[in-house]
Amino acid sequence: MEVIITSNYDEICEEAARIIHRAWKRKNNLVLGLATGKTPLGVYKKIIELYHKREMDFSQVVAFTLDEYMGLEEDHPQSFSNYMKKNFYQHINIKKENIFQLEGKPANIETHCMEYEEKIKNSGGIDVQILGIGRNGHIGFNEPSSSLASRTRVKTLSQETIEDNARFFNNRKDVPRFCLTMGIGTVMDAKMIILLASGKNKSEAILKSIEGPVTASVPASVLQLHPQAKIIVDEEASSLLARKDYYKWVYQNKEKVEDFSG
Ligand code: PGA
Repeated sequence: MEVIITSNYDEICEEAARIIHRAWKRKNNLVLGLATGKTPLGVYKKIIELYHKREMDFSQVVAFTLDEYMGLEEDHPQSFSNYMKKNFYQHINIKKENIFQLEGKPANIETHCMEYEEKIKNSGGIDVQILGIGRNGHIGFNEPSSSLASRTRVKTLSQETIEDNARFFNNRKDVPRFCLTMGIGTVMDAKMIILLASGKNKSEAILKSIEGPVTASVPASVLQLHPQAKIIVDEEASSLLARKDYYKWVYQNKEKVEDFSG
């Protein structure tokens, strides 16, 4: 795991956008896995800026959305399909046929989930997966106790997640109770994973994910088993980490290590 500690939220987004930009330079037909929520918003903004400055082009890029609420139409204001369109896709030149998302009202849930997995596989697999983290350590909507080997499927949201997401709805009772989400196994198949966390209310989840045991009780802890996982956090989200100084030291020396490997 590479733990990157920045001074603030803007720097988290800058760092994540830089990594994605670098990955795109190496592979113009990059396959992205994209998360919703508040945290990745700044990353999408920075990437859109790169597109406007003609430093990035999305004509060959493929994107898969991580999860979706059950029961919401694609154009529902709170659906994740709508979020992705509004905050990212409509601002760049990604092709409609290269955008893949889970449906809130699929004709057959099981078939839809299996087909999603197939589509990811047929695209060559996700190159870079962006993740946020819930206060309970969830990634995507894989709530604590989700199998670490799980694939795309229907999940029941925890009370904590429903409360956290109530801010996006007029009424708490409007927050869907069920969702479709890529599984933890699906996420772990990505070649690189970037998890972003900002603010004090994520510090406990970050501590458990990075320095605690790997456990289904903290789904993000599974990233300890991924060979290319980058955790980008600000000072507040990293405030409980015991080895914070070491992570900073590693980052300061990163370029020197890269010199060794040519
Ligand atoms: P947030 O959500 O970025 O809105 O905090 C993160 C998550 O629940 O995955």
